[in-house]
Amino acid sequence: MGVFSLRILVTGSTGQLGSILFKQLKASDYKVKITSRRKPEGIGHFEWVYSDLSSGEGLEAAVKDVDVIIHAATSPIKNSKMVEVLGFKEFLGKIKHIKHLIYPSIVGVDEIPFKYYKQKYEAEELLKNCSIPHTIVRATQFHNFVENLFISKPLCKRYIVPGNFKFQSVDAGEFASHLIGLVGKDPQGRAEDFCGPDIMTLKEMAELKIKKIMNQIKF
Ligand SMILES: NC(=O)c1ccc[n+]([C@@H]2O[C@H](COP(=O)([O-])OP(=O)(O)OC[C@H]3O[C@@H](n4cnc5c(N)ncnc54)[C@H](OP(=O)(O)O)[C@@H]3O)[C@@H](O)[C@H]2O)c1
Repeated sequence: MGVFSLRILVTGSTGQLGSILFKQLKASDYKVKITSRRKPEGIGHFEWVYSDLSSGEGLEAAVKDVDVIIHAATSPIKNSKMVEVLGFKEFLGKIKHIKHLIYPSIVGVDEIPFKYYKQKYEAEELLKNCSIPHTIVRATQFHNFVENLFISKPLCKRYIVPGNFKFQSVDAGEFASHLIGLVGKDPQGRAEDFCGPDIMTLKEMAELKIKKIMNQIKF
C-alpha cells in the first residue's frame, strides 16, 4: 500500500496548527478528513465532521475509516482537564484501528509546573501506556504565541514586557510540515524535539519586531 493511500484525520482543524496542517495537506496527495466543533471555511470537497472531546459527541464518526491521526485539538484554558486528559483517554479507546497517531506536545511539559503542561504530560503518559502506534513530538512555542505576549495588553498605555524571559520560538508552518513528514514513517514513540532556530529574550524579540515594522513604513 503506497503512502498516499493513507487517510489522514486532522483534529482541531480550526486551530492555529490544525488549519495550517489542513492547508498543507490539501495541497498534498494524501486523503484528508478534518474535525473540530466549528466548521472551517473554504473546505471545498474535503470531509469535515463535528466532534467534541468534552462530550464525546461525534468522535466515532470522526475516526471512522482513517489510518493516521494528527491530533491538533487542544483547549488550554476552558475544560482543559476534560479535553487534554479525560476526553483524550476516551478518544484513545475509539482509535484501536489506527496505524499511527501523531501527537504534538510542548517542550518542557514534564518540567514546567503549569496546569496545562501537566495535563499534556498526562496525555503523553496515556499514549505511552496504550497499544496505539504513536509518535509524540514536542515543539517549542510558536512565534505568534510569543508575539502575543508583548503585543496584546497595553497597561497604562505602555506594553509591559518581562524582558529577560527567554524563548526559542518556532514557525508553526515548519512544525506542521515536520508532522506531515512523519505520516509515512514508522511510529517512533517519543521523537526528537522540534525547536526554533534562535534563543532570544522577549526584549530582543520585541526590538526585532519593531525594527521590522519600521522597515516596512515609508515616511
Ligand atoms: N501554540 C503553541 O505555541 C504550541 C507550541 C507547541 C505545541 N503546541 C501544541 O500544538 C497543538 C495545537 O495547538 P494550537 O496552538 O494550534 O491550538 P489552538 O489554536 O488553540 O486550536 C485548538 C483546536 O482545538 C479545537 N478544540 C477546542 N476544544 C475542543 C473540544 N472540546 N473538542 C474538539 N476540539 C476542540 C479548536 O476548534 P473548535 O473550537 O472549533 O472545536 C481548535 O481547532 C496542541 O497540542 C498544542 O499543545 C502548541
